[in-house]
Amino acid sequence: MKLNTRVRSYWEKEPCGTAEEIVKDAKPLSREWFDRVEEYRYSIEPFIFDVAEFSKYKNKKVLEIGVGAGSDHLQWAKAGARCYGVDLTDAAIQTTRKHLACHRLKSNLKRMDAEKLPFKNETFDVVYSWGVIHHSEKPDLIISEIKRVLKKNGLFIGMLYGRHSIVAFKYWLKHGLFKGQPWRSFREVLWNHFESIGTKAYTVAETKDLFSRFKQTEAEPILTWHDINKWPRWMRPLFPRKWGWFITVKARK
Ligand SMILES: C[S@@+](CC[C@H](N)C(=O)[O-])C[C@H]1O[C@@H](n2cnc3c(N)ncnc32)[C@H](O)[C@@H]1O
Repeated sequence: MKLNTRVRSYWEKEPCGTAEEIVKDAKPLSREWFDRVEEYRYSIEPFIFDVAEFSKYKNKKVLEIGVGAGSDHLQWAKAGARCYGVDLTDAAIQTTRKHLACHRLKSNLKRMDAEKLPFKNETFDVVYSWGVIHHSEKPDLIISEIKRVLKKNGLFIGMLYGRHSIVAFKYWLKHGLFKGQPWRSFREVLWNHFESIGTKAYTVAETKDLFSRFKQTEAEPILTWHDINKWPRWMRPLFPRKWGWFITVKARK
């Protein structure tokens, strides 16, 4: 079976960030349910606003790849961007459509595999993708599609997982060392055990390399709640940013 078929079936079960412990007893897809999804997301990843700078792109044409439950897509729509969104799953597209409708907003949403986008060359001012590209079988194909559909000087804003991170180390402890298999690599453990099958994670240098055909690329690691939440408080300041699970990317075409 093609890897992306398995990736899709994983994410069809539940759009990202909508687990029961987050939404609790709220009626599925109600305003209260979406408010809980958003509240939780931005409490643990508040830096998304600084990275995305949603409000800078009023009236700009923005494509989001991998909309998930649509919290960031809502921020683009609220900011007045002309929104387009794609995702591998029907679950994400329907959830995002409903999410925006709760706020009387709309977007051009379509289920598809972003390894091949149906848009003409040089269509978008911004392409945004948070925590998505590393799930796909061929991230390099998505990145060349992003470059193709961006206008000249257009901007890619996104996030990829970092391999030299505390999250990767925790997964290696759990699935490697504590299972008596210390020889398993971070790469292989994440591929087999982190979210959908085939999840990849990169170093900062590898991330820059993926975007090397862009005119200018910035890649910055961020130490996240996912890295530090299980460690005692006194230990948290000891961890450097470079051990962060997220690598944010800004790449200019
Ligand atoms: C970890 S979730 C992130 C969702 C959202 N961006 C967020 O931050 O909550 C990954 C999402 O990427 C989507 N995805 C994975 N591979 C994809 C592909 N090749 N094309 C489009 N979407 C994809 C999945 O369906 C899923 O909704």
